[in-house]
Amino acid sequence: MLLKEIKDIYHKELDEIYPKEEVDSMFYFMIEHFLGLERFILAIDPGVIITKEEEQHMFEGLSKLRQEQPIQYILGETTFMDLKIMVNESVLIPRPETEELVNWVLDDLEKSDESIKLIDIGTGSGCIAIALSKLNPNIKATAIDVSKSALEVARNNALVNDVNIKFVQADILKTTSLGERYNIIVSNPPYVRGKEIGNMRNNVLQNEPHLALFVPDEDPLLFYRAIAQLAVDDLAQNGVLYLEINQYLGADVKGLLKEFNFSDIELRKDIFGNDRMIKARKPA
Ligand SMILES: C[S@@+](CC[C@H](N)C(=O)[O-])C[C@H]1O[C@@H](n2cnc3c(N)ncnc32)[C@H](O)[C@@H]1O
Repeated sequence: MLLKEIKDIYHKELDEIYPKEEVDSMFYFMIEHFLGLERFILAIDPGVIITKEEEQHMFEGLSKLRQEQPIQYILGETTFMDLKIMVNESVLIPRPETEELVNWVLDDLEKSDESIKLIDIGTGSGCIAIALSKLNPNIKATAIDVSKSALEVARNNALVNDVNIKFVQADILKTTSLGERYNIIVSNPPYVRGKEIGNMRNNVLQNEPHLALFVPDEDPLLFYRAIAQLAVDDLAQNGVLYLEINQYLGADVKGLLKEFNFSDIELRKDIFGNDRMIKARKPA
């Protein structure tokens, strides 16, 4: 079959679900991943023919896209801070906002040569700990998650990216001590309230792990409270906490950190202008 015909079928089947440009982009990701073809192949050679087996991959992918499965899960991988991160339904798909949090940490450490002990709480795919370790060799990272299957993905990602990270399975809501002193605690904990479900896309809601996303409406800051308490106890002197936050809860998280007497609290917006991350220093 002509590759061009497959592209037409993708548009016919998917244009009612996704914007046209997104369908183009998904089609190109599919041919790169499953057929090893460059995205500009059709511009160079509109007569490209693919084999029956290749057709089958493309049609299986199409059927998953029709069911609104995220393309990252279909391909089994995504890119985070230009690093390859493998993903499956056990882990949240790393988001661009989280890259901004990672960049904040990297920028703050840019001028330092000291060894940094860092812990990533709720590591999921491991993207934060892995990117920080890879991009700043002074960082010695530990990463924890309650989910065994997420940790399997994260461990594999550490191997794929050739970084050495200590992974620990633990429930942060039941942990009273991190066991060691850290210079940096970083976390992107679950923060979506049940009442925000209406704002979410189907493909997120139906496919990404709810354990990674949701907090109860009546206590949306429960992870932030647990992490703040651990940070008060287990950050080294002058240690810093970096958190990704729910865009609607910036003032609340800031208030919580003030209650714990953190200093130098700084709230930052993401590229979309939403409150998205906060940094604070251990109380003196
Ligand atoms: C929003 S996801 C963040 C994943 C990854 N750090 C990222 O930024 O893409 C939150 C993570 O917290 C983990 N988690 C949820 N409840 C937890 C708990 N009680 N203790 C430890 N980790 C938990 C989830 O399994 C999930 O991997």
